[in-house]
Amino acid sequence: MYRLNALASQAMIEALDLTKYYGSRCVVDHVSFKVSPGEVLGFLGPNGAGKSTTMKMLTGFLHPSSGEARIDGVRVSSDAVNTRRHLGYLPENGPLYEEMTVREFIDFIARVRLPDQTPEQRQSACEGVMQTCHIDTVANQTIDTLSKGFRQRVGVAQAILHDPRYLILDEPTDGLDPNQKQEVRQLIRRMSGSKAIILSTHILEEVDAMCNRVIIIAAGKIIADETPDALRRRHPKHNGITLRLASENDAQNISTALRSRFPAAKIACSANAIEVLPENHEPIGLEVLNFAHASQWKIDRFDRPDARLDEVFRELTSSSPVS
Ligand SMILES: Nc1ncnc2c1ncn2[C@@H]1O[C@H](COP(=O)(O)OP(=O)(O)O)[C@@H](O)[C@H]1O
Ligand SMILES: [Mg+2]
Repeated sequence: MYRLNALASQAMIEALDLTKYYGSRCVVDHVSFKVSPGEVLGFLGPNGAGKSTTMKMLTGFLHPSSGEARIDGVRVSSDAVNTRRHLGYLPENGPLYEEMTVREFIDFIARVRLPDQTPEQRQSACEGVMQTCHIDTVANQTIDTLSKGFRQRVGVAQAILHDPRYLILDEPTDGLDPNQKQEVRQLIRRMSGSKAIILSTHILEEVDAMCNRVIIIAAGKIIADETPDALRRRHPKHNGITLRLASENDAQNISTALRSRFPAAKIACSANAIEVLPENHEPIGLEVLNFAHASQWKIDRFDRPDARLDEVFRELTSSSPVS
């Protein structure tokens, strides 16, 4: 019992000081984190930040220059075959066998990934995963004839076929149209409860849509590791409110009234919009709304200038080189 508990407590995927040099250039720089089942980690960063390289080291496809990746406490590089058994990986530009049909490819993966199962069990797993990923309609098409959206879902299907505990998905929604993105996001959300999932993206909305944790990497270094909410709260305009005025003429009067009513807030006034940024990010939106209503101002619209993760992202990464 004690041993079981000890093992269970190790259930995680770990990056321990992972570092990768290409020549003299350090592209992943002492990256450390742990991800446990139930966590969906968004791995965010601009192009060239080192996301794919980190993922390749986590999955054992690339040797680190120093540091190590561990799965359930076992070094990936010391036991790649066993550790990969618990791992599903969608590589960037996934290596798909172009000349195979989707069914042939998934069946091929099943034979590699599920060697102990009977042909019937394997077939059932294949049909199941093709339905889950909505690729059953193209099962008899060769992969080279598929659109990017279908290819990406074939890639996801091969990653989840053996129901791994750990999923590492490199830009899973890359190249998908909005509907397909939505489908892949839903699929990832559905799988999230019992698995540890790491997905990379450079799209911040994805973090809100799928993740309960976010790591931002820039120039090979982790620069933030927190919840999407905490990241959003870093925004200088968090809990601010913008009043879009019906008439330009009122702007000065309204901003004067707002300044006396909310003396601690920062109030910026342009021709037909006034931005109210509360002190210490206090949620004063409703008070501003009520005040505007009581004062009978002609307001076209109230906007929230906050909650744009992309601006936080830009702010955090603006000093980092983007290749
Ligand atoms: N095989 C390689 N040889 C040399 N440089 C590489 C190689 N692979 C990646 N890089 C460089 O390492 C950096 C990180 O790449 P990558 O991990 O693919 O970033 P991301 O996935 O965040 O866009 C980039 O500057 C890239 O050009
Ligand atoms: Mg990449």
